[in-house]
Amino acid sequence: MRNLIYHISILAMISMILGCKSTTQPENVADVVPDYMAMGDSISKKTFEALSEALKAKIAAEGFPAAISYCNTEAKTLTDTYASGSITIKRTSLKPRNPSNEPDEMEKKILENYQSAKENGDTLTPFLKTYVSEYTHYFKPILLQPMCMGCHGDPQKDIATETLKAIKEKYPNDKATGYKTGDVRGLWHITFK
Ligand code: HEC
Repeated sequence: MRNLIYHISILAMISMILGCKSTTQPENVADVVPDYMAMGDSISKKTFEALSEALKAKIAAEGFPAAISYCNTEAKTLTDTYASGSITIKRTSLKPRNPSNEPDEMEKKILENYQSAKENGDTLTPFLKTYVSEYTHYFKPILLQPMCMGCHGDPQKDIATETLKAIKEKYPNDKATGYKTGDVRGLWHITFK
């Protein structure tokens, strides 16, 4: 009898240990930790679509110079379409058009890295970084497409005179021309708090 009780208590201990062990394991990590990479990809894609759809519609309806004025007043609002209390979205560049899109030190370094990766013919991929434990940062390069050239391309060849005039009026310190298709134009920086 004594032996049986002994065996039962050993069994109980083993099952307790096993039981405890299974509850200390993360139950389902994917349910608990948000997939910031997927979220960043989705937000940057949707924001890009919101911006370029609005721009295309404006260009088609009223032409390039009107689209410049539109960008001037609406770009920030459109960029913030998918922002919230816990998500901030920034577009920045080494050669910004709007001075309020100037990069900070960290963004500048990342832009320079993407720039040299591009020059070396490497593939540019988005990445995540955590600086302060509760903040996750998503970075993704913004590359130029043919539809961007009318406002960011060669001022002599790609940008019409009236468009250039409209740019100079709204952005006297504009640095965002002289690009070619495929160039690194800037950076998405999405912060998850
Ligand atoms: C109709 C002209 C026009 C077209 C076309 C255009 N942009 Fe711009 N872009 C602007 C203007 C104007 C701004 C400044 C917006 C602001 O005031 O925030 C700007 C700003 C930006 C910025 C933010 C950094 C900065 O320079 O201030 C990025 C990045 C950018 N454009 C990328 C693109 C890409 C990529 C395309 C093509 C898919 C494109 N743009 C097409 C006019 C244009």
